[in-house]
Amino acid sequence: MKASGLVKKEFGAGAGRDELGRRDFCSNKATTMGGDFSETLAEKRALVDKRLDELLRPVAGCPSSLLEAMRYSVLAPGKRLRPVLVLMAAETAGGDEETALPAACAIEMVHVYSLIHDDLPAMDDDDLRRGQPSCHKKFGEALAILAGDALLTMAFQVLAEHYPATTAAHCCRELARAAGAAGMVGGQVDDLAWERRMEGTWPEDMAREQILDDIHLRKTGALFRACLRLGVWAAQGERHDGPDRDLLGLLDEFGRCFGLAFQIRDDLLDIDGSTGQTGKRVGKDAARGKLTYPVLWGRDESRRRAEALCQQAYSCLQPLGDSAKNLSRLVPYVLQRNS
Ligand code: IPE
Ligand code: IPE
Ligand code: MG
Ligand code: MG
Ligand code: MG
Repeated sequence: MKASGLVKKEFGAGAGRDELGRRDFCSNKATTMGGDFSETLAEKRALVDKRLDELLRPVAGCPSSLLEAMRYSVLAPGKRLRPVLVLMAAETAGGDEETALPAACAIEMVHVYSLIHDDLPAMDDDDLRRGQPSCHKKFGEALAILAGDALLTMAFQVLAEHYPATTAAHCCRELARAAGAAGMVGGQVDDLAWERRMEGTWPEDMAREQILDDIHLRKTGALFRACLRLGVWAAQGERHDGPDRDLLGLLDEFGRCFGLAFQIRDDLLDIDGSTGQTGKRVGKDAARGKLTYPVLWGRDESRRRAEALCQQAYSCLQPLGDSAKNLSRLVPYVLQRNS
């Protein structure tokens, strides 16, 4: 399938809401994402929501205010794209959803921690997230920082407690690498370093195009890659020789392309989207002097690059045939989403 064919029909403009009052990206009808697939997605998100709710229950020693802040941010109406990717990667690797669910929830916890911290005044200073006041606006900065800390930590606890030793160790290593200093956190540091024009961050001869990819691939791409990798580990981690290397390689590259395309669309939504649909403030990147795709390449070229990345993502799935059917059906969503 050609990438250009992916974007012929846009999703309907109205952002529906599901029974939880959540913006429902799956309910938007697109010819590329048929009704059956919308239902598949809704089912997977419901599974994730239920398990997240079960994982975030009172335990001795956890202050109720902390749990409240964690639940407020995690159970807010997010798209759950990362956990859905974990489930679909596991399915592609021959695993079942039940086994992959803890890994899916662990990734969502890391993602939500990153959103809470990203919104803090010291970072992007955003007062709205997922259609509601951001965590620090609702609970104050100190509790928001600590809720993020607790979610990050809990993600590793979930992995350690829900998988056999080999799988747990590899999942923890993969997630730590993706989320840590050379991954998501490193990307966030450089995103801010650019915004604040910090001298000496990059070699003088490094092109801005390269810097931009370098930031986006870490701040967003790294966690997307981890979704695919954890899905494979959850499904195949206890095999004698570990997961199928070829499969891991293909899905890793799929995640890289998918994640970068996702952040390009996020950049585009900041200039063309609406607060009503995205659930967050728009028009902030340029005001803050962020290095984004539209700033560097303009709208049309940014869209073209996102399409090319989606095409690359597709080609990673071709050798996998029917087992990757759901992953391939998810690709058009990256280009078409409005929320
Ligand atoms: C927002 O991610 C942060 C980025 C990496 C762009 P999402 O757009 O997936 O946010 P939620 O989870 O749906 O709220
Ligand atoms: C956020 O990127 C990336 C992480 C949270 C790691 P953005 O700053 O572009 O995300 P939004 O636009 O606030 O959701
Ligand atoms: Mg940011
Ligand atoms: Mg932000
Ligand atoms: Mg953004």
